Amino acid sequence: MKNKTKIAVFASGNGSNFQAIADAIQAGQLDAEIMLVVTDRPNAFVLERAKIKGISCFAFQPKDYDSKKSYETMLKEKLRVLEVDWIVLAGFMRLIGPVLLEAYDNRIVNIHPSMLPAFPGKDAIGQTMASGAETAGVTVHFVDAGMDTGNTIIQQSFSVNGRDREAVEKEIHAIEHQLYPAALQQLFKGERT
Ligand code: GRF
Repeated sequence: MKNKTKIAVFASGNGSNFQAIADAIQAGQLDAEIMLVVTDRPNAFVLERAKIKGISCFAFQPKDYDSKKSYETMLKEKLRVLEVDWIVLAGFMRLIGPVLLEAYDNRIVNIHPSMLPAFPGKDAIGQTMASGAETAGVTVHFVDAGMDTGNTIIQQSFSVNGRDREAVEKEIHAIEHQLYPAALQQLFKGERT
């Protein structure tokens, strides 16, 4: 039986979900170890957060590689050396390609700020608000080759109730920061028993 699941967190931006995962690990609520933070944006704030936590980071620029296949092959090798079991996407703004999908079959997860299949893709919160939907929410799902199309793991919704975008966004992030670590713990626990 393994105690801790080794994960890599992929993020392109602020990294508040990375932070929530790292905090949950520190608090003993998530039996995982973040082996590496991977970013495709060398200025991403997630790097500052990882530094404070003492977690290793790898930043790369996709434009320095010939293709998605070539940078994913490089990433796959890094993750193999670190014995990473799962890839956790947390605001990573690129589609995952066949190299990583095959290497991590059913072991890549993502969090998305809408009740999928509603409002996939960019600015899901903006899409939700523009549609006038009465319900907003968050989805944790497995990653496949499509844009936010993989099987749902868990969702949580709430009523917009006339709130403005800022308030809805705040609620979404608050839900994300609870839901993602809890969903990961459930997923990984299934593997440890
Ligand atoms: C989150 O809203 C997540 O659902 C989406 O991207 C955002 C990332 O936020 N995939 P952060 O970088 O974790 O703060």
